[in-house]
Amino acid sequence: MQDFTFYSPTKFAFGRDAETRCGELVKEFGGSRVLIHYGGGSAVRSGLIDRVKKSLDDAGVSYVELGGVHPNPLDEMVYTGIDLCRAENVDFIVAVGGGSTIDSAKAIALGTLYDGDFWDFYSGAAAPSKALPVGTVLTIAAAGSEGSGDSVITKKSTMEKRGTGGECIRPKFSVLNPALTQTLPAYQTACGVTDIMAHVFERYFTNTKNVETTDRLCEAVLTAMKNEAPKVIADPNDYEARANIMWAGMVAHNNIVGVGRDQDWNSHGIEHELSGLYDCAHGAGLAVIMPAWMTYVMKHDVMRFAQVAVRVWGCDMDYANPEATALAGIKAFRTFLRGIGMPINFEELGAKVEDIPALVEKFGIGDGKTGGFVNLDRNDIAAIYKLAAEATL
Ligand code: NZQ
Ligand code: ZN
Repeated sequence: MQDFTFYSPTKFAFGRDAETRCGELVKEFGGSRVLIHYGGGSAVRSGLIDRVKKSLDDAGVSYVELGGVHPNPLDEMVYTGIDLCRAENVDFIVAVGGGSTIDSAKAIALGTLYDGDFWDFYSGAAAPSKALPVGTVLTIAAAGSEGSGDSVITKKSTMEKRGTGGECIRPKFSVLNPALTQTLPAYQTACGVTDIMAHVFERYFTNTKNVETTDRLCEAVLTAMKNEAPKVIADPNDYEARANIMWAGMVAHNNIVGVGRDQDWNSHGIEHELSGLYDCAHGAGLAVIMPAWMTYVMKHDVMRFAQVAVRVWGCDMDYANPEATALAGIKAFRTFLRGIGMPINFEELGAKVEDIPALVEKFGIGDGKTGGFVNLDRNDIAAIYKLAAEATL
């Protein structure tokens, strides 16, 4: 295991009606003038925004609002939010929604205290060092942004989707009420589960030796998702299954399952070009990319793929032919994804095989290589897109 520092200071308020604590939490972290930031309307329709406002009113905290965050959040909303925060002397942002809204809030939080263009943080021209404090009220278990120091934004003019990260944008608090996720369409629920599993897989496939504890934690989260996801697809009101998925979304991405080991993240990079170009759901893109990446890199460490096949998917270990076990695991993953309603190839996602050269170009590694488990060049990336395009069960 490698040396590491783990510091993840978000305060979580978990359970039924937890959003009523929003005002109290904002005050605890020093907020007095809040921007309530939300998405395309689900949080308004469910009455959640009114409940958050009441909680702020009860705590004597004033606020302004900015709704309309697009899934795969856009830079233009960030600029609007920065102007509003400055004009209204906002000192705390509460994001009510999913990863898109939370990431947009984090970008506004960064940009408000920065003299230049906030995109500098996403293009790599600047590193985050200060931001307005952010709190979240999560409505979909997926991205893990409620506990992470990451944010992903799309620049509309070029459809480039880029991320940034820093401790200053890790949420001060996050309200996690599983009942809030009961209004999600089955497709979005499944996209969320896929993203959660992908966050674990990106950490699980590592070259670091002797990481049994985090291996087993990863396998536990994956197994829980395998068991809990079909329950919520069958019964969207299954609170207990929703609760398990919601906590898994946080655990999968605040890095508790990924400390002390190299991680990969190429599947995420390869997917971000799909959701950047086609505006598809990130989780759906991952359902198409992740198994294709697995198939392509499997030979690098067949035993690790066989291990997850046996421990998570319940495949029999074929000691004479571990590759067969590894492949059976990937097939089981794809079958699971199909079972919860996810696309498994380009056609089902709405992507086009003829766009592969453009996707590779946007991926942007030129003649270089990238990856933490297997280093890939542009030809490898193209081959993975091709495998994803043609995938079948
Ligand atoms: O906008 P509204 O009307 O709220 O509708 C949303 C949106 O259409 C809807 N929704 C959310 N909660 C709902 C609901 N509908 C009914 N009932 C509810 N309770 O769901 C749709 C998707 O929402 P979104 O926020 O886009 O989902 P998600 O949480 O999956 O976030 C995706 C974004 O997060 C980024 C992705 O790239 C993508 O842009 N990621 C962020 C990460 C991070 N910051 O750490 C890591 C991830 O790997 C990921 O890249
Ligand atoms: Zn993700």
